[in-house]
Formats: sequence, structure tokens, C-alpha cells
Amino acid sequence: MCGIVGYIGHRKAWEVIIKGLHRLEYRGYDSAGVALMNGNLSIYKKAGKVSELERFVIDKNIEGSIGMGHTRWATHGIPSDVNSHPHMSGDGKLAIIHNGIIENYAVLKEELVERGHIFRSDTDTEVLIHLIEEIKKQDNLDLRDAVRVALNAVIGAYAIVILSKDEPDLLIAARKGSPLLIGVGNGEYFVASDASPIVEYTKNVIYLKDNEIVYIEQNELLIKNIDNVVQTPSIHELELKLEMLEKGGYDHFMLKEIFEQPRSIKDCLRGRIYPNEGNVQLGGIKDYTEKLKNIDRIVIVACGTSWHAGLVGEYLIEEYARMPVEVEYASEFRYRNPIISEKDLVIAISQSGETADTMAAIELAKSRGATIFGICNVVGSSIPRLTHAGVYTHAGPEIGVASTKAFTAQVTVLTLMALYMAQQRGTMKQSELIGLLTGLDQIPRLVEKCLESNLSVKAIAAEFKDSSNFLFLGRGTGFPVALEGALKLKEISYIHAEGYPAAEMKHGPIALIDEEMPVIFIATKNSSYEKVISNIQEVKARKGIVIAIVTEGDTEVKKMADFVIEIPDTDEIFLPLLATIPLQLLAYHIAVMRGCNVDQPRNLAKSVTVE
Ligand code: G6P
Repeated sequence: MCGIVGYIGHRKAWEVIIKGLHRLEYRGYDSAGVALMNGNLSIYKKAGKVSELERFVIDKNIEGSIGMGHTRWATHGIPSDVNSHPHMSGDGKLAIIHNGIIENYAVLKEELVERGHIFRSDTDTEVLIHLIEEIKKQDNLDLRDAVRVALNAVIGAYAIVILSKDEPDLLIAARKGSPLLIGVGNGEYFVASDASPIVEYTKNVIYLKDNEIVYIEQNELLIKNIDNVVQTPSIHELELKLEMLEKGGYDHFMLKEIFEQPRSIKDCLRGRIYPNEGNVQLGGIKDYTEKLKNIDRIVIVACGTSWHAGLVGEYLIEEYARMPVEVEYASEFRYRNPIISEKDLVIAISQSGETADTMAAIELAKSRGATIFGICNVVGSSIPRLTHAGVYTHAGPEIGVASTKAFTAQVTVLTLMALYMAQQRGTMKQSELIGLLTGLDQIPRLVEKCLESNLSVKAIAAEFKDSSNFLFLGRGTGFPVALEGALKLKEISYIHAEGYPAAEMKHGPIALIDEEMPVIFIATKNSSYEKVISNIQEVKARKGIVIAIVTEGDTEVKKMADFVIEIPDTDEIFLPLLATIPLQLLAYHIAVMRGCNVDQPRNLAKSVTVE
């Protein structure tokens, strides 16, 4: 969602903040703003991208070594200059930036209006800063206490930073449910929603915990909890490298991340598979191997692309570890009254480790006694701290809003988990395990080969860039691949696309097929190959256009399809890791050809920290 950056130290705050906002822009990009302490409390904010804000301040005073900045993904109030952050108190002395949602803002606002407060924006954030102002005045409290008392009164999620005209050397930040970390430099401190604005200056960070408030002055940092008890912070070292946050010669982060997949899958497998011995090691969950033998069921919870990875996991775990698996949208699961007990294992999948619905689903399952595993990409994010155990995907930072390398890394971890569970539960022969692990070891090389189709996929993209609809069809694990292919295309090119199990086509989508309709089939040589061929014929009989992802050397599908994209032959279990690659490329090229903003598609955000 929104991105937050704050600075206090000896550098020019504007420079640190604006660079930080560019790095955070993937979290939200409908407006941006800064507040700087420069003798005054100067606030500059603008609807639009961070670059708009840069243009806006050209003739303004951007001096000062203390400040904060925000890039917004609108929840309450349309993207506009006035709804942009920072927001100010009524007396203009306090400024706030906020990520999250204040759920009881309407009630609070009503009370404040009765007390004479006038609001300029439609945001929940402005209510919070007025509340702090009101409490400070009414209860005659200093700012630190007023912030604490106000935070006790709000319901919802927040990561906030506050500056005050009257205390120009103080920066206050707090979190509950939305990520915030503090970079500890030499005589300087940074505050940010993630490590990307910080890593250039220091590797030492403190992950602020829920219900903690930090008071930062030039050479002093004090953390208290919301009950006013002093907390001892622990400093962690960041593993992130600056070059991971740059495009490295590619036109877009998405393309860079697609091409990183041989490396990211290799990193995900490193130290975890021993093909010759037929052995999988997953250190993050090894303390739960006994538990794995005694659970009745697995429930996977996730959102978006991570949910698609979960669907692949369902096929793999049921096939190899012979355990029943259900895959749930976290947002639905949390609001049902799901039947969950201590005999269940819940696996939460999340690239960011911050998705609000997934976090709530975890809390719910935990409260019912289930064991929770996490599959996350961002080290130190919130979900790994909520779960009992877990496995990181090690894909490295994913900046493009449309998830690519995180998806294949999630599927890789789920493949490892399925095989690990099969090994622990004795549901697979050792020889079979050796065969599959040997195959898995080859996947980074085969993904590399898939990427060689880039130019031919680009040529296909040119043919279909003006289509208004697409169908993606597959069977078995080809079905979640079809869903993911359709999602990529609609996310970044704004073309309507649907993914379906190929056999379901005749129960509805077949009505859409005519000579204008491109239909993408996952038609590789696997157990459902013959059935998919029948489905292709059904489309051709209705004059649909068929683009098929086929196994290298295939001749049968080639005779029927209008276009084919070859991927290397592999065991069926690994199909999603290969078949997804050309679909990512197709979505990418179509979006570029349509002039869309590939890395920052409209209305979307990388990390959805509100429900
Ligand atoms: C957003 C992103 C998607 C992502 C989903 C779940 O919608 O745009 O790319 O799949 O959130 O995010 P998570 O971080 O939990 O995987």
C-alpha cells in the first residue's frame, strides 16, 4: 500500500526522502508528499507520481535535515492534492503521514467536528492528527503522551510518522499492523515501510513491532509500547543489496524479474535438495516433522498470485504426500467460520509477508489451535513473525507490481514442501524421490531455455495486442498456470482475460469463442495431453484462435494450433515452473506495446496492507 520514509540526521532530508519515495513508489503511486523541518514545517504534496512532486518543488525551500515523505495508494478519498499526505492538525503545528486504515475514523471525526475541528480532506489520516491535537490540548499533554493516548483510541491498522513545529528536533513513528522499520546510521536515523530507502545508507535496522512507538532525536532513539513501557530494541543486519533494487539495464523491473528466474529458483533450491541421496532439507520447518505425520489436513491461505501458487501446491501435496489440501482466499476464509482445529496445518503464502487479509487468516487459524507455516519472500516481514515455522522463497526484492519471480519461487517451495512431506510420511519410494529431485535440480537451466522464447513470444504479442479478450485454459497444474497467465495479462495490459480449467470451457466460456477470440492452451505432454487436444479441437471447430504452450518437439498440437510456444520436456510436477514463463513474457510484451505502465499498473499496489 502506501510508502513511508522519514529522516533525521546530517544529510539533506529532501534528497534522502525523494530517493526513498522513488524506491517505495511500487507500494502506491497515486499521489506523493513531503514535510520538511526548515525553520518552518513546510509541506509539499501533489496528486500523481513522485516525479510530479519533484516538479512542484522546483521553486520551493527544500532545505532541512529532518523530514518525512509519503507515496499514496488511495483508500479514503480520491487521489487529489488535498487528500495526499502529509496531513496537518487544525492549528497547522503537527503533520502526519500514514499507511493503513483507521476503521473508527467516522465516529472520531464526528466527535472532533462537534468540538469545532474543520477537516480539509476526506481521509481517515487527517482525523488521527486532529485527534492527537485535541488530546494534547484537552488533557494538557506533551506530544509524546498525546500520540500514545490517541493511538489507544483508534481501531485499525497504521504505520505513522509525525513531525511538530514546536518540537523541531523530534520525529515520532508508530506501527500496528502495517510495516515500519528504522535504519540506524551514524548520527542519523531513517524510518521506512521497507528497507529499500534505507539500504543505501545503513545495513542496521530495527523492525518496529505492533503497538510500539519510537521517539527519535538526532542522537537518541527511544522505543516504548502503547502502554508507555520502555522496550529494548534489537538491531538486525539487512541482507539486501542496492543493485537488487535497480533495473540493471532492463527497460522495466518486471522484465528484469522475469529474466532473474533461473537465478531466483536456484537460490530457492540452494542447500535444500540432495538429489543423489533423495533427500530434501527444509530447516525452517524441521522442528515440525512429527507434527506433519499427525495432521489431518492442510489449508493454504493466500491472495492474488500467491493464491495461484497455493493451487499448484494443492495438486503437488495431494499427489506426493497424500494429504488432503484446501486452498482458500484469505479474505474469504477470515470472514467465514471455518472449521479449523489443532489437527490442521495452515500454510500462508505471501510475497510481501504483509498482506492484511492473509495476516488476519493466520490469526484466526492460530486462535483455533492450528499449526501455521509461512511461505514468504520478504525477510523480516510481518507474516514470518506470526507463523510457527516457515520457508523463505529467497527470490530477492520484487519491485514490478505484477508478481513473476515470486510466483515461481513460491511454487518451488511448495514443490519442496510436497516432497519433504512425502519423505517424512513415507508416501514415496526413495527411487522416485531421487528421480524428481534430479529433475528439480535441472529446473533453473530449463527456465533459462524457456526464456529463449522471448522473441517469438514478442511476435505473438504483436499479433494480439489489440484483442479485447483472452481465454487461458489448462488442466491439472496447467489450470493454475492458466489463471496466473490471465491475471498477468489483465493486471498490466488491462485486457479482459479469464483462466479456466479446459474441461469447464464447454460449461460457459465456449459461448464466447469466435474468430476474434485468442485462446491460450497449456498443452504440454502430460497426463491430460489427449484431453487438452480434444478441447483445442472444440475451439478450432468454433473458429477460435489457438495459441498453445507445447512440449519441445510436439507435432500433434502444432497441426491444430495457430501459434505454438515450445517449452522443454520435464516431469509433470514441474510444468508450472516452465509453462508460466512464456505467459509472463506475453503479458509483458502486450502491455509494453499498448503503452501501459508495466511496473506500476493503474489502481494496483504491490503490497496490500489494508483489507
Ligand atoms: C497484490 C499484488 C499481487 C499479489 C497479491 C498478494 O494484489 O499486486 O501481485 O499477488 O497482492 O500479495 P502477497 O504479498 O501476499 O503475495
